[in-house]
Amino acid sequence: MSPLDMTALAGRMGEGALRQRLAMEAEQDSHHYRHVEDFLRPEHLPSAGRLIHRALAAAGLRARGRNNARRIRVHRNEVCLEHLPGVFEGCRLLHLSDLHLDAGRHHVEALLAAVRGLECDACVLTGDYRFGIEGSCAPAISALARLVPVLPQPAFAVLGNHDGIDLVDGLERLGVRVLMNECAALHRGEMRLHIAGIDDAHYFRTHDIARAAAGVPVDACAILLSHTPEPYRHAAAHGFDLMLSGHTHGGQICLPGGIPLLTDTPAPRRLARGAWRQGRMQGYTSVGCGCSIIDARFFCPPEVTIHVLRGPQVGRHQ
Ligand SMILES: [Fe+2]
Repeated sequence: MSPLDMTALAGRMGEGALRQRLAMEAEQDSHHYRHVEDFLRPEHLPSAGRLIHRALAAAGLRARGRNNARRIRVHRNEVCLEHLPGVFEGCRLLHLSDLHLDAGRHHVEALLAAVRGLECDACVLTGDYRFGIEGSCAPAISALARLVPVLPQPAFAVLGNHDGIDLVDGLERLGVRVLMNECAALHRGEMRLHIAGIDDAHYFRTHDIARAAAGVPVDACAILLSHTPEPYRHAAAHGFDLMLSGHTHGGQICLPGGIPLLTDTPAPRRLARGAWRQGRMQGYTSVGCGCSIIDARFFCPPEVTIHVLRGPQVGRHQ
């Protein structure tokens, strides 16, 4: 990204947030972490994937886990929003999270097959396009170049903890609007459905909800995209109607019944997957359509989600 683009990006997400993100990305690329807890994160341990691979292979479960990871289901979630303008009744948002697209060709093919032909009014992407956390974003951007043309438009995105800043330019060149502590809107006639997005609140902590919410009028219907559900309390306090997230992978490798072993978040377990509520704000945490650390899933199938928006009148009669 050129220096001029960096100046523009600083104006969008906040100069301090951009400076912090670039410094932390440099730490990741050099493996020189300033804090021991950063070094010990599962995705920062190069041996974690190898250890899990060996354990699954020894148990004869490696192939099954890989096949499970490629069986992406389409999950429908109806959500009633108090402030939804009537013209958006039935509006369908296709939600993809934790794509980790450069995990392999088979994964991209599985995702293309899952989303091709889905009829929706817009698409939202809640981060983690890259499998690893360091190095070039080019393989993920190449995979996105195959995926984005089959997604509904318009498409809005935020970055996750796996994503480098190069993905802003990579996504926007493909026509996806990246929301870096910013707000956009869907328009139908005079009416608007506001869609705000924050930068990653899990690792980079460069999110700024107040900045993202600044353009949303009081009592307007607004959706917040956040890679992780972690800032759920602040999102509710800012009056968002709906928060869409991912990051947890629903645990990815779970016990029977979908009980996660790890969710990689300090957020409560009730926010780890599916629909939830915080005060008047509703939320949804996607289990994601990809994998991190290792391409395997157990008792936690990958998903793409269609959120069907309903207004308050419909909600009262349900
Ligand atoms: Fe992820």
